[in-house]
Amino acid sequence: MKLLFIGGGRFVGHHLLEAALHAGHQVTVFNRGKSCTEWPAGVDVRVGDRRSDLRALRQPQDRWDAVVDCCAYLPSEVHSLAAALQGRAARYVLISSVSAYAGFAQPNQEDSPLGSLPDDDPEVLSGTVNGRTYGPLKAMAEAAALQHWAEADCLRIRPGLVVGPQDPTQRFTYWPARLARAQDGEPVLAPGRPEAAVQWIDARDLACFTLQALEAGRHGAVNVHTAPDAMHLGAVLAEMAAALGRRPRWVWRSDAELLAAELKPWNDLPLWLPADGEYAHFMRNANARAVSWGLQTRSVVETARDTLAWWQGLPADQQGFDKAGLSAARERALLGAGA
Ligand SMILES: NC(=O)c1ccc[n+]([C@@H]2O[C@H](COP(=O)([O-])OP(=O)(O)OC[C@H]3O[C@@H](n4cnc5c(N)ncnc54)[C@H](OP(=O)(O)O)[C@@H]3O)[C@@H](O)[C@H]2O)c1
Repeated sequence: MKLLFIGGGRFVGHHLLEAALHAGHQVTVFNRGKSCTEWPAGVDVRVGDRRSDLRALRQPQDRWDAVVDCCAYLPSEVHSLAAALQGRAARYVLISSVSAYAGFAQPNQEDSPLGSLPDDDPEVLSGTVNGRTYGPLKAMAEAAALQHWAEADCLRIRPGLVVGPQDPTQRFTYWPARLARAQDGEPVLAPGRPEAAVQWIDARDLACFTLQALEAGRHGAVNVHTAPDAMHLGAVLAEMAAALGRRPRWVWRSDAELLAAELKPWNDLPLWLPADGEYAHFMRNANARAVSWGLQTRSVVETARDTLAWWQGLPADQQGFDKAGLSAARERALLGAGA
């Protein structure tokens, strides 16, 4: 197939691009040329900012079997892309998110209600993507896609937390990196409850699944992540530690203790979502449709080992955790002298 990737230069897009090249597809990438400057041989590289200049996608002979949109955060970005392509991409694949669902008081499946914001919401008007707007804007981007591509030509991929090598968010990576420096018997702060459900998708499995779904002509929305209630935080952390040969002493701190210490769920302690919070069931969504389409997910151990190896290979100045995770000092303070 002739595929156009919007993005394709890092993390999810990077793994999708690798999978597409491996499968022998002909690939064009479009991005600003910031995240990636060296591309594999044979990739047709177009440069532009999707928010302001899509002219690089308008060469006379341009035709694609599908466009895989790895960086659409606003409905306006989908509309302008569709206008620029003017029917020259037969199918559209949007990397959306489970965040598109209206709420997480219950687990979601593909036909659960989606989030929304009024068109005149000031942050929608200004294109501001933040914790409040990200999910509803993804839902609105999905709806925008369906104004330009028929349902049968439109695949909406809804990943859960994406993890693995090349992850720029530092979230999942915090855990293998933290465990790698743990001495035997060292107290390590574990958040919430060991029985809390955990759900994610390794970016390489996401890439493989998305490509297979595209090749099989799938359409519609699909959640892409591990099975609900298949993994639990205590077991996952223990498995990671064992795989890395570490024997820490886990010190569990309750939701109430962590919230009282003003820790932010999800980011300050990755994989932690309070049991009574608005995201209580964020990691318990259904994946039956993806499984029926052939989703395969690799083990905790493989993801943790590969993520650690990637992180350890980064230059030292890129190994910090300034976006997610606890600093050693903050963790010590939270553990207290008696831990
Ligand atoms: N991380 C997660 O846990 C998670 C979970 C669910 C869904 N998702 C979704 O997965 C998708 C991929 O996320 P990601 O973190 O891998 O990548 P990303 O940061 O969304 O996109 C990065 C790619 O898009 C290009 N890009 C960004 N802004 C651009 C612009 N204005 N014009 C042209 N190209 C632009 C970048 O290249 P340049 O910088 O060179 O332009 C780069 O190649 C996103 O849609 C995200 O919502 C992520």
